Amino acid sequence: MYLYHFGLSELPFTLTPNTSYFFGLPSHNEALQVLSTALQTGEGFIKVTGEVGTGKTLLCRKLLNELPDHFESAYIPNPLLTPAELRRSVAAELGVNVDENCDQQTFTQKIQQTLITTNQQRKSTVLIIDEAQALPVESIEALRLMTNLETESTKLLQVVLFGQPELDEKLDRTELRQLRQRITFSYSLSLMDADQVVQYVQHRLTVAGYRGATLFDKTCCELMMKASKGTARIVNVLCHKSLMLAYGEGKSCIEKGHVFGAIEDTEAAFSVSRYWSAKIGLSVVVIVILLAVASWAAWL
Ligand SMILES: Nc1ncnc2c1ncn2[C@@H]1O[C@H](COP(=O)(O)OP(=O)(O)OP(=O)(O)O)[C@@H](O)[C@H]1O
Ligand SMILES: [Mg+2]
Repeated sequence: MYLYHFGLSELPFTLTPNTSYFFGLPSHNEALQVLSTALQTGEGFIKVTGEVGTGKTLLCRKLLNELPDHFESAYIPNPLLTPAELRRSVAAELGVNVDENCDQQTFTQKIQQTLITTNQQRKSTVLIIDEAQALPVESIEALRLMTNLETESTKLLQVVLFGQPELDEKLDRTELRQLRQRITFSYSLSLMDADQVVQYVQHRLTVAGYRGATLFDKTCCELMMKASKGTARIVNVLCHKSLMLAYGEGKSCIEKGHVFGAIEDTEAAFSVSRYWSAKIGLSVVVIVILLAVASWAAWL
């Protein structure tokens, strides 16, 4: 691989949401600020949405790592669960001991008892759900019922939902309007602009141990921004492939040709040549249809 060639101590553009690579993009910093404020107020539901690959799971992990000591947390990374499975997962995360066969009512009571005990210790409990767009509607309703548990003055359980934009579509359903009203804080992540891509790429390289001259210049980063529309995961893929291509040619910095090569090789990236070939292909089909219609009309 290219580690030694570029003087890197580890791969800088892996797809794992590793918090040691976190770069404080303005949108991500704002999201963390909103989360911190919302958690301090003790409100019921908080929602963070963002397009695929914009860093939601990374933010989720960062939030978990940085939760103050007076928070107990439960983390559900894959919420494609029935209401019963969801309750069981929450119970397991909170360390609630329940018998496999116990009924729903006992289950809820045990969870409530744990939440009350935590509250008496002057602690708050937060449930963090990633990929929340995958929650079935009935499980979202079960979640709402769980947050109904409260003392005279505070909620016993706060819920943070991280999800793709489909989550908003789901929450727009009439049967979920009660929950929608309880989302007091929400934030939508933005995509990176060209300057942010430059800083983001440089940051990841530095964390990976790179100490040399600029590897990806502004032109390369602008190309990657256009091809990725500013999505961090696609930028990572393009950087990794560009580094491989430059390494293959024995070059010590990335040139435009390497980035073009990476874009062409990446299905998820927006490629200018693929865009034009699709457009030309469509135009040819339209022209053929028009000619056929015209000759049929002339024949009539
Ligand atoms: N602010 C950031 N700093 C460093 N790396 C980031 C940042 N934002 C995103 N990334 C990187 O982008 C990649 C995609 O991030 P992540 O998996 O968190 O996206 P996601 O929004 O959860 O995607 P999906 O919608 O598919 O679940 C990861 O490699 C992650 O480390
Ligand atoms: Mg994710």
